[in-house]
Amino acid sequence: MKISLNNIKYKYEIFQIFSLFYNQDEIEFSDIGEFKINIIKNNIIMGNNIIKEYSFDEDLTEKENIKKYVYSYLVDTFGYGFPYGTLVGIRPSKIASKLLKEGFNESEIIKYYDKYYLASSEKAKLCTEVAENEKKLLNNDSHKVSIYVGMPFCPTRCIYCSFASNPISSVKHLVQPYLEALTKEIEYIGKLIKERNIEIDCVYFGGGTPTSVDEESFDKIMRVIYDNFVCEKNIREFTVECGRADSINFKKLNTMKKFNVDRISINPQSMNNRTLKMIGRSHTKEDVINIFNMARKLCFENINMDIIIGLADEGINEIKNTMDEIEKLNPDSITIHGLSIKRGSKLKDSDNKQAARGFDEICNMYQEAHARSKKIGMFPYYMYRQKNMIGNMENTGYCMTSKEGIYNMEMIEDSESILAFGADGVSKYVDTKTGRIDRTANVKDVKEYINRIDEMITRKVQLFFKEELQWQNH
Ligand SMILES: C[S@@+](CC[C@H](N)C(=O)[O-])C[C@H]1O[C@@H](n2cnc3c(N)ncnc32)[C@H](O)[C@@H]1O
Ligand code: SF4
Repeated sequence: MKISLNNIKYKYEIFQIFSLFYNQDEIEFSDIGEFKINIIKNNIIMGNNIIKEYSFDEDLTEKENIKKYVYSYLVDTFGYGFPYGTLVGIRPSKIASKLLKEGFNESEIIKYYDKYYLASSEKAKLCTEVAENEKKLLNNDSHKVSIYVGMPFCPTRCIYCSFASNPISSVKHLVQPYLEALTKEIEYIGKLIKERNIEIDCVYFGGGTPTSVDEESFDKIMRVIYDNFVCEKNIREFTVECGRADSINFKKLNTMKKFNVDRISINPQSMNNRTLKMIGRSHTKEDVINIFNMARKLCFENINMDIIIGLADEGINEIKNTMDEIEKLNPDSITIHGLSIKRGSKLKDSDNKQAARGFDEICNMYQEAHARSKKIGMFPYYMYRQKNMIGNMENTGYCMTSKEGIYNMEMIEDSESILAFGADGVSKYVDTKTGRIDRTANVKDVKEYINRIDEMITRKVQLFFKEELQWQNH
């Protein structure tokens, strides 16, 4: 679609709305575009075959008006719209959080989402529910920091994945040097945290797959994390996202118990063996069940399970089956992801994109997963969106009472500082008074990370340990 636009200031916003309906590669801006958009004073006039004119709503900003009316035009043309309307940001619940603080009630928030973004009442309700739950748990203490540690190895690489996740058998020679570099980084910063009396809120060990290394190496790195960030500290949560059933065993579960891990993930993604094979996960649904039961026997009382909607050629029946199997296990939380076709994943590069499902079936699959999570007593506690998500939906975390993943909530809401260790870890300093966020990222490539470990440490020291920072002055 060639678009001619008289006010180039809004090119990005218009591109975002068009990409809901057209393939991004097909959208082009040109002086002789067939689709004409003229923004004149408080009006937008647009169209190709049929020209329409909309007058701006005075309550909305110019940008919001433009997005809303371009979107409305395309909905009329195509005969369908999207549940989030013009909302394309990654944190749709942030709007509800802000409105709740200003004293709006649920029905006013629903009206607001419709008026400003043409978002459905169902999504507005979901955002409000998440925002309500977040209010109770978000850290308001600017002196606290959470910790992220990344393990960039996995048993195999899943086709949709773009995270730092190297199949461990092909990089065996890098595992020990990586763990040494990671230990150096943790111990150096751990010492500074201790000296400055900085309090730790949550610790999250993810990746990749933390348990993809052998038992001895896992025990060793867990001790380093425990000694520096957990021991004698009054932390709220210690999560290990072990994730892959084919990387977990009795010994590794025992190690996690020994070091006081209170939340783990055992992620099926799907409980259909055919799908698991197609996405490149070398475990079966039976493995997931066995490991889950083993973890329960060892008294893990907060177990999360991740699933993805839109995998391989899954439809509503496969999702029903996944939810049936998960329900039998009775986990403490379920995170429902929508497949996102990401740059850097095998899926993006392959010709065999996931079978295109009709929009109605995609909606049904999401609805089924949400409804079933609610039916077993869970409520939504955090959510975020990504680019190129199937159905343009969201990822939502559901949990039983008091089983929220606190780190997830803090991280998505940018409500506290995070010190991140390991390849691809992104540290952020959040000034809770001004809302300003400064970030520094570790390199993603494992070899680079090992070779440049001193630089990774220095970057963090520079961002977090300047004398004037507020958390050091209490
Ligand atoms: C950081 S990943 C790692 C989890 C762990 N290694 C595993 O696979 O079980 C966290 C979750 O993000 C989700 N995820 C990863 N890539 C995705 C994609 N392209 N689209 C949708 N969800 C994705 C999966 O549900 C995954 O469990
Ligand atoms: S989804 Fe998890 S297990 Fe699969 S490659 Fe990515 S990080 Fe590794």
